[in-house]
Amino acid sequence: MNVVKIINVSRFYKSGLSIVKAVDNLSLDLNIADFSVVAGPSGSGKTTLLNLIGGLDKPCEGQVFIDGESTHNKNEAQLTDLRRDKIGFIFQAYNLLPVLTVYENIQLILQIQNIDEKLHKEKIFSILEDLGLKDLYKRMPSELSGGQQQRVAVARALINEPKLILADEPTANLDSESANKLMNLMQKLNHEKNVTFLFSSHDPMVIKKAKKVINIRDGKILE
Ligand SMILES: Nc1ncnc2c1ncn2[C@@H]1O[C@H](COP(=O)(O)OP(=O)(O)OP(=O)(O)O)[C@@H](O)[C@H]1O
Ligand SMILES: [Mg+2]
Repeated sequence: MNVVKIINVSRFYKSGLSIVKAVDNLSLDLNIADFSVVAGPSGSGKTTLLNLIGGLDKPCEGQVFIDGESTHNKNEAQLTDLRRDKIGFIFQAYNLLPVLTVYENIQLILQIQNIDEKLHKEKIFSILEDLGLKDLYKRMPSELSGGQQQRVAVARALINEPKLILADEPTANLDSESANKLMNLMQKLNHEKNVTFLFSSHDPMVIKKAKKVINIRDGKILE
């Protein structure tokens, strides 16, 4: 079974009198343990595609299946459950909760998933260590740089080891050393836990590390 299957998916936007085809009749399969990148220039439809796959946006046409389940007939609550159970998101807007510390932002995911409290500390510190955030665990998001906030968002997406991780330009705000570390961590999860990754990027270093490159232009896959 495909972790992700999308069939003839389109997402159009009205722009004055014309219509922008952000994603245009696009089909794509992702299998377990894929490590794929969506590459394309600004405006080519990368974010729109990831949002459609993650159930954050609905297609105008076509079907999206996650782990064999169609998202077509699901209501908001059912989509939220599907996202919580199967998908980790790393998006450009980090969406950290401003009133919680770094540690608490990550712990929240484990609490939502009912993971045994006794395991929290070890899991959280292990991932903070991997991302070079260990000394910052008590800080509030407002006390962190953009790149540090990005890494907390990454830690949060990785903490419950979801089946699928969608990452929209995960290295965009990172210096090259942090970007490299992040990619290595994602590769490790991919190898060791068979997590399926789909990320978008402009960064040649990131694109080089992908097992498969999906080039898109104007919402279509280039052959
Ligand atoms: N909410 C919206 N309303 C109207 N048009 C939109 C909207 N969101 C995206 N678009 C348009 O859809 C197209 C695809 O946008 P998208 O954000 O998916 O591109 P992208 O490849 O992620 O670009 P970038 O690399 O700059 O992040 C663009 O032409 C964009 O202007
Ligand atoms: Mg984008």
